[in-house]
Amino acid sequence: MSVLFCDLVASTALNEAIGDEAMFALLAQYQDLCRKIVAAEGGYVAKFMGDGMLAYFGFPGAMKNSAGSAVSAALSIIEAVAGLVAPGGTALCASAGVATGWMVVGDANTGPDARETLAIGGTVNMAARLRAATRPGTVAVGDAVCRRLDPGGFARRFLGLHSFKGFGNPVAVWAISRDRSTPALPDFVGREGAMATLDAIWHAVQAGQVRAVEIVAPGGFGKTTLARRHLARVANDHEIFEIRGMSHRRDESLGCLKVFVQHLAGITAAMDGAAQRDRLAAFAPEGARDGLALLLGIETEPVAPLVRQARIAQALGGLMQAMIGAGRAVLFVEDAHWIDPETWALLDGLPAALQDQAVLLIATRRPEGAPLWPGRAAVIDLATLPEAEAEAMLDRIDRGGDLPPDIRAGIVRRAQGVPLYLEHIARAVLERPDTQSVAALPDTMIEALLERFDRTRESLPLVEAAAVLGPVVRVDVLAQMLGQQVGPVSDQIAALVGRGLFTQDNAGAVTFEHALVRDAVLETLLTAQRVALHARALAGWEAVAPDELAADAATAARHLLGAARPAEAIPHLVGVAKRAIQTGALGEAMASLTTALGALDDVPAGAARDHLEMIIRFFVGSTLVQTRGFADAAVNAAYQRALDLCLAHAGGSETEFQIIWGIWAHMLVVGETATAARMSARMDAIVRDLPALAVLASSAHGVNAFTFGALDAQERDWAQTDAAYDIAQHGLQAITYLMDARELALLFRIHGRYIAGDLPGWRAAMAEAAAHEARLGLPFLAPYIRVFGTAPHCYAAPGPEVRPALEAAVGLAHDLGQPFWMLSGSLWLAAEKVRREGHAAALPDQQAVVAMCHATGLRLTMAYHEALLARSLAETGQHDAAATMIAQSRAAIAGGQDRLYLAEVLRQEAEIMRLARPRETAAVTDLLEAARGVSARAGSRAWGALIAGSQARLIAQRDGAGVAAGWLEQALAALALPGSADHPAFGRARQMLAATAMGVD
Ligand SMILES: Nc1ncnc2c1ncn2[C@@H]1O[C@H](COP(=O)(O)OP(=O)(O)O)[C@@H](O)[C@H]1O
Ligand SMILES: [Mg+2]
Repeated sequence: MSVLFCDLVASTALNEAIGDEAMFALLAQYQDLCRKIVAAEGGYVAKFMGDGMLAYFGFPGAMKNSAGSAVSAALSIIEAVAGLVAPGGTALCASAGVATGWMVVGDANTGPDARETLAIGGTVNMAARLRAATRPGTVAVGDAVCRRLDPGGFARRFLGLHSFKGFGNPVAVWAISRDRSTPALPDFVGREGAMATLDAIWHAVQAGQVRAVEIVAPGGFGKTTLARRHLARVANDHEIFEIRGMSHRRDESLGCLKVFVQHLAGITAAMDGAAQRDRLAAFAPEGARDGLALLLGIETEPVAPLVRQARIAQALGGLMQAMIGAGRAVLFVEDAHWIDPETWALLDGLPAALQDQAVLLIATRRPEGAPLWPGRAAVIDLATLPEAEAEAMLDRIDRGGDLPPDIRAGIVRRAQGVPLYLEHIARAVLERPDTQSVAALPDTMIEALLERFDRTRESLPLVEAAAVLGPVVRVDVLAQMLGQQVGPVSDQIAALVGRGLFTQDNAGAVTFEHALVRDAVLETLLTAQRVALHARALAGWEAVAPDELAADAATAARHLLGAARPAEAIPHLVGVAKRAIQTGALGEAMASLTTALGALDDVPAGAARDHLEMIIRFFVGSTLVQTRGFADAAVNAAYQRALDLCLAHAGGSETEFQIIWGIWAHMLVVGETATAARMSARMDAIVRDLPALAVLASSAHGVNAFTFGALDAQERDWAQTDAAYDIAQHGLQAITYLMDARELALLFRIHGRYIAGDLPGWRAAMAEAAAHEARLGLPFLAPYIRVFGTAPHCYAAPGPEVRPALEAAVGLAHDLGQPFWMLSGSLWLAAEKVRREGHAAALPDQQAVVAMCHATGLRLTMAYHEALLARSLAETGQHDAAATMIAQSRAAIAGGQDRLYLAEVLRQEAEIMRLARPRETAAVTDLLEAARGVSARAGSRAWGALIAGSQARLIAQRDGAGVAAGWLEQALAALALPGSADHPAFGRARQMLAATAMGVD
């Protein structure tokens, strides 16, 4: 049985407006019509609660299709209510929910007259919740009812997934209307082979499998027509989700999915942010809401780029699965050659993700586009129409049989089997006053189109302006361009829609009937005309919708470029890129910047041009940092060029600081520490005028001090950073600088305090870094924080196992698309492997990851890892390779990198020498003594402890274990800072003496 629940929309407000008496009369009228309709459909009204009504179908007597009757009754009630008018002329509106299922019905009162029926179970609840979820004037149903409805009688529209209180899983909700009568396509001809293939595929889908198919052909061959025809034949009881590639949005990251979601959720550009959020909340399930808000750009909380991308992908994946997984759904990807790469990547995985579901994925694509589902999709290559089919098509266009045979033959010949050409050439002739004249048939589609547009007086100027305005035509802007009123322009467009030259969708958007029609018009324009029209388009926008234009940098840029005003276009293109970088759409950012660089060629040389180029190069650098990491040479090249241009003119701005910061980070990571120091000095100079940036400058100083091995200086810089830092003021700098000043200082402090042998300081820094990370809540920093913060544990055993933490960090970096942190994490994982499993087991990993670091230019902390690798080589008897590797490590330090590792590198060199030439203890002793001196001067007491361990081992060989143990305790006592006796390096030193164990030493 089925339950229908319906009520009047906004009845409380209505009651207040018209008063109790009028309301009472109105309700009587309403209840009366409800009763009549329900009875007519064979249902039974269980009760009224004011304007609410609960009715059962299939009770008391059984009923064959109770769901169909209930929905039919609901629709009739809605229609009838729309006919009621309240006093004061207020139109009335009802909405309804229908649910179906089993329930226990009992008579609370056994008397046959006043029977109060109790329905128990979720079904009544569900009907009420569905009612609450739907839009005014519609009836909402869940999946179960949807499945029971006669596909011929009703049309459905997906309203989103809703989480209902008391129902565990989100429910797919559909709005039902009376059948819109499947658009008949009686004019379709031929294509039997393709149809047979499509039918076979559909058959497999019906058998419960996912199938993908691509229809491939040049424009105008009939791809869209074929796909629609097929779907209308087989899938008219299915929801068809259509994602449309658009030529003007092919660089816009997820642009077509944005439109897709807006359409599904009923969101329009005219709504303000709050209204859009409301619509989205009604449409999207809880879990997908935030991700979809990010996609639509209506989020309330700022989110870091890479996280944003991951969240959007997750939400879309969930939405797609849920929509299609609800059954009886088809995904139609129209014009796949115009789909942007990010959308592409999401669609790519669908056949695998939907493996065992009965879903059809169907796409149309021009041959120049790449296959959407390579290897997974059947491909239908659509050829031109054979002559007989072209004739048949012409029959259907020329229904009256007005065309004489020779003209028909001429049209078919000129169309060359391309349906779109045939259509327009034939229509051009049919629209002539005299269809009999053989003279001058249009030779091409362009000629035919020009003739057709020219037929009505003012069409051609209108069409030319529209073509320049864009694939989607805004009528108000167009009217402004033409210097006319909106009314007459709309009328002309309506006439063009009627003649099949333009189309207008349900939402009122006007487009050229076919992309090739617009292309054809554009082709006929002279350059000067085009430039002038772009200028008018721009002026039109500015006059009609200046705010929308300001918010739509891509459109402004397109028209400025078209109007030959590149210097004005470039800031807009950079604006597009900036916004794309902020939203993690790095492909889109790069595409826009590349266009901007191209536009630069047309800007005359001079200070203004230099400034434009500087900004472009800077954002190229910022984009590359995220895709390739700070170490990449292209990052440096972009930043250096930006800096040159910046310094050639004024400099001293925040822009210069940002450029300098980028170069500093690059130099640090590739081990050019002297240059990095010069960059920090420049930061200091800029900061004098821009004090908000001082905190970044001091944290950079601290990092420099660390690489120089100046641990005390690092502590002073840390104190400065900590004092200057204010999360409210500086917390979002990370989005621009890709690092938070305080977090950066803390991460290096974790290493610094460890190496300094300062156990309480180390612990405090670790705790504070974790707490600060939580406060920042910028997940894109997480891999870096986890990798670099955990790493000091790898310096020496004993200590907790950190492999799971590092692996998780690498996994996160992978998910967020941060190759740099994947590499860095792998480096420390190799060190951890040495610690846990010994040198021999870890060697292959160490070699692989060190080689990768070389290939990518990553140098920071590499002196340490190379020394550790050298040691593993020596431990496995590869003494020559070990000697080469340790020499490389020392050379790097001599060249200015990683000085704080020098003592440890020297100690490893001594150990390597001991392994290679066990008898030459004097040289080993000398090296250890040199290492001790270095660590004493640098204050690196952790290294000092390890050196003492190595020295004690030599003493044990010479003077016995007892003497060595006594010596070691004295040495360690002299090194230990207060509260630091349990430092892992000290424990390791004792262990080294106790046994020649494997592990890091
Ligand atoms: N098989 C066909 N039968 C009748 N008309 C067709 C057929 N194929 C295409 N057409 C007509 O040709 C025009 C172009 O077809 P369309 O499907 O839009 O091409 P494409 O999607 O390949 O660019 C349409 O207006 C359509 O009416
Ligand atoms: Mg098409």
